[in-house]
Amino acid sequence: MEQTFIMIKPDGVQRGLVGEIIGRFEKKGFTLKGLKFVTVDRAFAEKHYADLSAKPFFNALVEYIVSGPVVAMVWEGKNVVAIGRKIIGATNPAESAPGTIRGDYAIDIGRNVIHGSDAVESGRKEIALWFPEGIAEWRSSLHSWIYE
Ligand code: GTP
Ligand code: MG
Repeated sequence: MEQTFIMIKPDGVQRGLVGEIIGRFEKKGFTLKGLKFVTVDRAFAEKHYADLSAKPFFNALVEYIVSGPVVAMVWEGKNVVAIGRKIIGATNPAESAPGTIRGDYAIDIGRNVIHGSDAVESGRKEIALWFPEGIAEWRSSLHSWIYE
């Protein structure tokens, strides 16, 4: 089954949005396969956002991600990458629809609360980076109530 890497950024943790955000993924029907509470260093944040290293906001982005603990998660389910991005909303909260996480809880693009993998392949890479120790092997007993 498809997996995605989701991270509650330092502002989401500081603002007490952890339970709310996890609840949205749980209630949708996705399965939590990995979770940890960590503060990463600059080198790690630069690796995670390596694709954006040429962007003018890269340094500010790295400073933001290392500014406090984050909640790193792996979620599993059918189309979880694309649906996860829909639940999260557009990158710029000014354009995120109400009902999405960023649409409901963020204002500035540089404080947009949450990260989600943008493709199955980048998800795979991000899961390997954040969870080198591997993730939980389990299958929710609700499976047949969620999938036809
Ligand atoms: P992530 O899920 O965090 O990867 O966001 P995204 O996939 O919606 O956007 P993208 O990967 O293009 O950018 C990564 C992060 O960089 C965004 O979530 C923002 O926090 C930040 N970012 C993107 N564009 C800008 C920008 O123009 N200005 C600033 N200050 N930050 C930006
Ligand atoms: Mg991205």
